[in-house]
Amino acid sequence: MAARLEHVAIIMDGNGRWAQQKNKPRTFGHIKGARVAKKIITHAGNSGLKNLTLYAFSTENWLRPQTEVSFLMRLMKRYLQKETATLIKENVRFSVIGEVEKLPKDVQLAIQTTKKLTEKNTGLHLTFAMSYGSRQEILSAVKNIAEKFKNGEVDKNQITESYFNSHLMTSGTPDPDLIIRTSGESRLSNFMMWQASYSELYFSATLWPDFTTKHFDHCCQNYFQRERRFGGTKIKNEESFI
Ligand code: FPP
Repeated sequence: MAARLEHVAIIMDGNGRWAQQKNKPRTFGHIKGARVAKKIITHAGNSGLKNLTLYAFSTENWLRPQTEVSFLMRLMKRYLQKETATLIKENVRFSVIGEVEKLPKDVQLAIQTTKKLTEKNTGLHLTFAMSYGSRQEILSAVKNIAEKFKNGEVDKNQITESYFNSHLMTSGTPDPDLIIRTSGESRLSNFMMWQASYSELYFSATLWPDFTTKHFDHCCQNYFQRERRFGGTKIKNEESFI
């Protein structure tokens, strides 16, 4: 049985299709998606989960039509401005991973404010992945370490997994135990590829705007039925057939 569940990460997918099915603009799906995110955050915190990461905007999402991108940015800013009081009340600590410097200045400011106001909170650690891409994150860590190596600050033998981990944007947060992706797509889409090495994956057919706390609980219950072996086996000694 899976022993513990400390970190759930979610690829919130399907907002656009949900809206299109209703003959509404894609932005309508994002508005509903943000409401769902709010509910899941509260529920995860109440359930005693320690870490929740939500993939809100990928490095590739910048390629979407400008109107959709700017709408999403305004939605993020509004979410942070409106919900920070709730995050404080619910003892949630907020942080962000991704190329934050690429976000509009007003969104960066909203992020800084929410981070500052929640930094001492001890409940759920909520991370938004914004302008986040795993390849970019890994490349940036490699460049950083290469620079240290060049300057003689680190020896080749010191570059261990945990040293590498400490150069990732997720440093200090445990790897996700469970990654959920909604909308029926079965891929990671440049999300936490290093950190997901031994994550359990759950692909839900439900579109994100329809995802409920019940779906979330179902994913977690399913996780608890899995056996995580991390490449090992429970079998101690077995006769060889060869
Ligand atoms: C994927 O659906 C969703 C996104 C790219 C944005 C995720 C954003 C939200 C859920 C809303 C913002 C959240 C907060 C908390 C402010 P899609 O547009 O790719 O859908 P599709 O695959 O059906 O086109």
